[in-house]
Amino acid sequence: MRILGIETSCDETAASVVEDGVKILSNVVVSQIDIFAEYGGVIPEVAARSHLEAMMPVIDKALDDAGCNWDDIDAIAVTHAPGLLGSLLIGTLTARTLAILHNKPLYAVHHLKSHVYANWLHQSSKGKQGTPCHSGTLQGRSGQSLCPAEHIAPCFPLLALVVSGGHTQILYMPGHNQFEIIGTTHDDAVGECFDKVAKILGLPYPGGPSIAKAAEGIICSSDTLKGARPSLQSSEHIIPSSNRYKLPHPKVEGLDFSFSGLKTAVLRAVQKEVGVPISYPSHKLKDLLSRQQVCDFAASFQKTAVEILCEKIEMALTKYPETKSVVVAGGVSANEELRGALKDAYFPAPSLSGDNGAMVAAAAYYEIQSGANPTNPYSLNIYPRISIEK
Ligand SMILES: Nc1ncnc2c1ncn2[C@@H]1O[C@H](COP(=O)(O)OP(=O)(O)OP(=O)(O)O)[C@@H](O)[C@H]1O
Ligand SMILES: [Mg+2]
Repeated sequence: MRILGIETSCDETAASVVEDGVKILSNVVVSQIDIFAEYGGVIPEVAARSHLEAMMPVIDKALDDAGCNWDDIDAIAVTHAPGLLGSLLIGTLTARTLAILHNKPLYAVHHLKSHVYANWLHQSSKGKQGTPCHSGTLQGRSGQSLCPAEHIAPCFPLLALVVSGGHTQILYMPGHNQFEIIGTTHDDAVGECFDKVAKILGLPYPGGPSIAKAAEGIICSSDTLKGARPSLQSSEHIIPSSNRYKLPHPKVEGLDFSFSGLKTAVLRAVQKEVGVPISYPSHKLKDLLSRQQVCDFAASFQKTAVEILCEKIEMALTKYPETKSVVVAGGVSANEELRGALKDAYFPAPSLSGDNGAMVAAAAYYEIQSGANPTNPYSLNIYPRISIEK
């Protein structure tokens, strides 16, 4: 079964053709990062307009790359929730129109389900994407034996750690298409926290990749990631210390998270380090930091964020000892330190960690396998804020 997956929930216009939920025949992603690097964040109206321009060329290219015409497509899947209202509208209206025009069944997919199902995607036949990384045997603190390495797909019941720009959740999945939220953030998402800390440190948008680079001693220049300030662009080699700044772990009960306190802790630590009062404007702090300090703050912050995520997964494994696999999903799953810390968990190929159409097609495939009916293309609605449990 070949599904065309369409994704426009935030600032990526994406379409992909996927066979049987696992084999990527094409995967086209047009990112608006270059536009929003200038502003340091997404402007919803601009994102919607950019989707409008890119949508049809992206879909045409996805079909073309897959060597498909409309007769080869069995269904269309689209992200209808959650996300930016205008961005969701462009994708869903396009999918609705195409479903009616080409007489294809239409499936509406929740964005977080798609992120989770990126872990089921195999390497593309064109060899552009990697296979899910899974090695060794997962051993929870409680000692339960989890899926062995040779299994290609994650095993149920599983825990999904969703770490993205808008969400930080732990989901319990007893089987395909069954989700229970067992932990969630009380405030900021972890990806949002990376982005905000990067801003304090004067690192370019999006913050996740530029913090990760700075934690290795590399300050992204405007050539690699647009927007870095010139004073940070030098080839001087820096060895960062992730122990230089001690940052607190939030005291949140159970499996829930809180990341806004960590962001404020970085802010206060930077103010203290450069000797200014807490009333000093955060956007001016970056001009007072040396390259070494920026790299040390990035490394200390990244280490703390990864530790917090790992602690909660350890707790979840203790609470759900029957767990067979852990999968990590969402943009922050591209983070190398997190991948290193959760060696036995499943991760999507880095190119599939962020928003893409392949994961939408994969999620729809497993919904269809679970007996989901197509939605009405004349009335499909969007839901900018809706839980995965609904
Ligand atoms: N290597 C990395 N390390 C840490 N964070 C990263 C890395 N790469 C990307 N990110 C973060 O991932 C986030 C983007 O992920 P994603 O595209 O899944 O979010 P979103 O789609 O905007 O939000 P959501 O999926 O919750 O709707 C950004 O916050 C970005 O900084
Ligand atoms: Mg996303």
